[in-house]
Amino acid sequence: MKKAQKILSESKKYRIDVGLSNLAAVKGEGCYLIDVDGKKYLDFHSNVSTNNIGYGNPEVKEVVREYSKKGIYKVDGTLTILEEALVLAKKLSKHLPKNLRKSFFVNSGAEAVENAMKLAYLKKGPLGGVSVKGAFHGRTIGVLSYTSSKAIQKKFFPVLPHHELDFCGEKGYCNFRELEDLISRELTPAFVIIECVQGEGGYRPLSKEFVKYLRKITKEHDIAFIIDEVQAGMGRTGKWWAFEHYNVVPDIMATGKSLQVGATIAGKKYDMAKQERGALGSTWGGGHVIDLAVGAKVIEIIEKKNLVKNAERMGDYMLKHFKEIQLKYPRKIIDVRGKGLMIGVEIDSVKRRKKIIDGAFKNGLLLLGCGEKTIRIAPPLIIDGETADKGIEMIEKLIKKY
Ligand SMILES: Cc1ncc(COP(=O)(O)O)c(C=O)c1O
Repeated sequence: MKKAQKILSESKKYRIDVGLSNLAAVKGEGCYLIDVDGKKYLDFHSNVSTNNIGYGNPEVKEVVREYSKKGIYKVDGTLTILEEALVLAKKLSKHLPKNLRKSFFVNSGAEAVENAMKLAYLKKGPLGGVSVKGAFHGRTIGVLSYTSSKAIQKKFFPVLPHHELDFCGEKGYCNFRELEDLISRELTPAFVIIECVQGEGGYRPLSKEFVKYLRKITKEHDIAFIIDEVQAGMGRTGKWWAFEHYNVVPDIMATGKSLQVGATIAGKKYDMAKQERGALGSTWGGGHVIDLAVGAKVIEIIEKKNLVKNAERMGDYMLKHFKEIQLKYPRKIIDVRGKGLMIGVEIDSVKRRKKIIDGAFKNGLLLLGCGEKTIRIAPPLIIDGETADKGIEMIEKLIKKY
C-alpha cells in the first residue's frame, strides 16, 4: 500500500472528516505540490488561494530558518510591540488608499472579517449587518451569518440579525433599490459587507454599478462599507485588491490567506478600539511573529517579481483559452468568467464537474469546485505560459472525455 493511502486510511480513526481532498501533501516547489509518495500535482487552486507566490520560495524558507534561531514563536503583535507588525502594516499601506492605514493582525481570514465587523459594531452598536447572497466570509459562528455560498454551511447553527441582498453580477437582473428599501423599512444596518469577486460562491464578479451603488448608499447613511479581500486580494485579480477594479474604497477591509496572517484594516474613523478598551483583543498568538515576517516577505516577493502584472497577463491568457474551449463544448461549459487569475469555468452539471475534478486528480492536476457547479482556476501568480498550457490541455481532454 502506498504511504499516502496508509495515512489516509489511518486518519479516518483520528480525524474529524470534513470531506475534502485526498492529497497527502508533504512539500512544494513552484506551482507543484508533492505527496508523501513523491507524486507531483500541478496546483490550479493555490491551496484555496493561500499561496500566491508559489511553493518552496527560497527567501521565505530563509525567513523561517532565521526565526528558528530566535527562541520566540507564538508571540503576537496585538498585545506585544513587535517590529514585524509595524513592517507588515507599512508594507500593506504602500498598496492601499490613504484612508486605510490602521491594521490589526490575527490568525485567519474569518477572524479578520469578524474584527472588521466588530469595528463597525463599535461605531454603530449591535445592529444587523448586510451581505450578498452567495457570499463566503468564513466559518466561525459570527461571520457564518453573512456566509451563504452553500446552505449546509450554516444549516445547524444560530445566526445574528442579518439581511442578504440579491446577487448582482456582470450579467442578468439587478435590484438597485433593495438596500434603500431595507433602510427605510427597518433600522439602518451597522455595515454592508461584500466580496467584489465572490470566491466560494462561484468566482463571480459583482457588477460595477452595483458595487458603486452600495458605496454611495453606505456613504449617504454613514454605514460601514466592508470589503472582504481574503481570497481576491494580494494580487490575485490582476490588481493588488479586487476593489481597485471598481473604483471604490471601503471603510474597512479584511484580508488573509496569502498574507499568511489575517488582517483587518481600517481608517481613523473606525479606529475605535482606544475609546472602548477591551472590546477588541487578540486571540492568543494571533498574527504571531514568524507569520508576520513571512507576510512581509510575501509582499516583497510579489513586488519584486511583478506578480500582480503577471496575474493580469496570465489571467487574460488563460481566460482566452477557456473561452475558446467553451466555444468547442458549449453544451458542457455554460460560462467562463473572472478577473486576473481568479477564473470560474462553469460546467453544465454537478456530476460532470465531479468527473473532471476526480479525473484531474488522478492525472496530477489539483482542481477545486466553487459555487454550484463551477471549477475555480486560481494557480499561483508565478505561473508561466508553459505550465498554464499543461493544466489547460488536461482540462480540455477531460471535458472532451466526460
Ligand atoms: C472571501 C473569504 N473570506 C473569508 C474567508 C475565511 O478565511 P479563513 O479560511 O482563513 O478563515 C475565506 C476563506 O476561504 C474567503 O474566501
